[in-house]
Amino acid sequence: MSGIVVFREETPEDHPAIRELLSAAFKRSGEADLVEALRKDGDLVFGCVAAVDERVVGYAALSRMSAPFPALGLGPVAVSAAHRSKGVASALLRWSLARARDDQWRAIFVLGDGAFYGRFGFRPELAAGFGSPYAGPHFMALALNGALPAKEGRVDYAPGFGQLRP
Ligand SMILES: CC(C)(COP(=O)(O)OP(=O)(O)OC[C@H]1O[C@@H](n2cnc3c(N)ncnc32)[C@H](O)[C@@H]1OP(=O)(O)O)[C@@H](O)C(=O)NCCC(=O)NCCS
Repeated sequence: MSGIVVFREETPEDHPAIRELLSAAFKRSGEADLVEALRKDGDLVFGCVAAVDERVVGYAALSRMSAPFPALGLGPVAVSAAHRSKGVASALLRWSLARARDDQWRAIFVLGDGAFYGRFGFRPELAAGFGSPYAGPHFMALALNGALPAKEGRVDYAPGFGQLRP
């Protein structure tokens, strides 16, 4: 038992553990169903797993969005209760942002808490010009590989998100 947290891309062997983690963290199955729908539709670009001794303790999903430039939607993000407040979600985000940057994506959009996501550079003002069902103060964007190529237009999460209740 090393206790060391390893960050890596998900593999098919992780799928049951990811379902279990998401269902426990959100106390419902909607987010786990969403990730499975994204995989099935080919819209999951990558999922980042945090693992301790080969057990999945954290997860972040990045999916293809419809946008005026190559953009990813971030979420769901979850860490198992026993491993919270130790920086696991922050490290998952740093891993995911670096991967998205390396793969030449131009933006990541997220709907979430400004105080948390603001730490990684997400800003509501960057998302404000874009039409989305999630438009509002909690809808944020992060530019990758330079400034956003456009400041307005329509951005939509992958169709799998349509089944998720708020
Ligand atoms: C939100 C969550 C992923 C944070 O994971 P974590 O590994 O504890 O996060 P980190 O240790 O990197 O950062 C902790 C900080 O996150 C922030 N945070 C924790 N829970 C939060 C929440 N529900 N909303 C917003 N910010 C939150 C706090 O500022 C916290 O700071 P603190 O440790 O000083 O109290 C985890 O609490 C979780 O899985 N919650 C249930 C699922 C969820 O709400 N996911 C986010 C929406 S997609």
